[in-house]
Parts: sequence; structure tokens; C-alpha cells
Amino acid sequence: MTRALCWLCMIGLVACSESGEPGATAESANHPGAGTYEMFCIACHKLGISGAPRIGSAEAWEELASTGVERLLARTIEGIPPAMPAKGGCLRCSDEQLKAAIDYMLDQSLVSRPSEE
Ligand code: HEC
Repeated sequence: MTRALCWLCMIGLVACSESGEPGATAESANHPGAGTYEMFCIACHKLGISGAPRIGSAEAWEELASTGVERLLARTIEGIPPAMPAKGGCLRCSDEQLKAAIDYMLDQSLVSRPSEE
């Protein structure tokens, strides 16, 4: 049991150090914001529903990123009527969790990638 767990963490470490740069899919599960994104934000941000900036689209996120994560967090907490609910729909999420989810989307978007999934 312990041994098996250790194996997993070693694989995780290797995968992490090998891919190195943000945006590599293999490490997405390790990002602290991945879970929140996948539970809530994915519903709109995967495909860009109602004009949501689509994950994986550098074009959609570059300008937003340049305005600063703090501002994006504030906007997320408030929500953007009518399309985006307050806290992206995750009312029980802490600011930290929301910030991590934003960071995750930025990570996945601001790297040029050959193809999307
Ligand atoms: C029901 C759909 C929906 C969900 C769920 C959702 N979003 Fe959004 N989000 C949007 C839409 C639509 C926009 C674009 C709004 C606009 O610019 O008018 C947006 C914009 C944003 C922006 C850019 C804000 C800005 O300043 O323009 C951020 C950051 C963001 N969402 C984060 C999140 C996070 C984090 C989550 C999950 C916790 C989330 N969203 C969940 C629909 C959604």
C-alpha cells in the first residue's frame, strides 16, 4: 500500500519535472485549481458558452491576464451578469480556490499549444 502510493508520487514527480512548463496536459491534475475548474468553470469555459473566454485560447485570455489576476478574481467573485454567475457558480469556494481555478485556466491558455485536446 505505502509502496504503491510512493510509486504513484514518484511517477507524479517525474511527469512534473519532465513536462516542466505550464499547460502540459499530463500535469493538469496536479494544479491546485484543476478540481474547481473541472467541477464548475468547465461548463462554460471549456467551449466558451455565451462568450466566456475559452480555456486553451491564448487569444481569449491574453488581454484578460494582462489586467491582473487580482482583478480577474474580483470579477469572478462578483460575477459578470448576465452570463457568469457569482463565484463562477461555486458559492462555497474560497477566494483561494477561485484564484487557483483562474490560474489554472491561464496556465492552460497562455501557452501556445499545437492542438486543443
Ligand atoms: C454559467 C457559465 C459560467 C461559469 C459556470 C463560469 N463562467 Fe467565467 N465567464 C462566463 C462568461 C460568459 C464570461 C464572459 C463575461 C463577459 O465578458 O461578459 C466569463 C468570464 C470569466 C472571467 C473573465 C473576467 C473578465 O474580467 O472579463 C474569469 C476570470 C472567469 N470567467 C472565471 C471563472 C471561474 C474561475 C469559474 C469557475 C469557478 C467560472 N468563470 C465559471 C461564464 C461562466
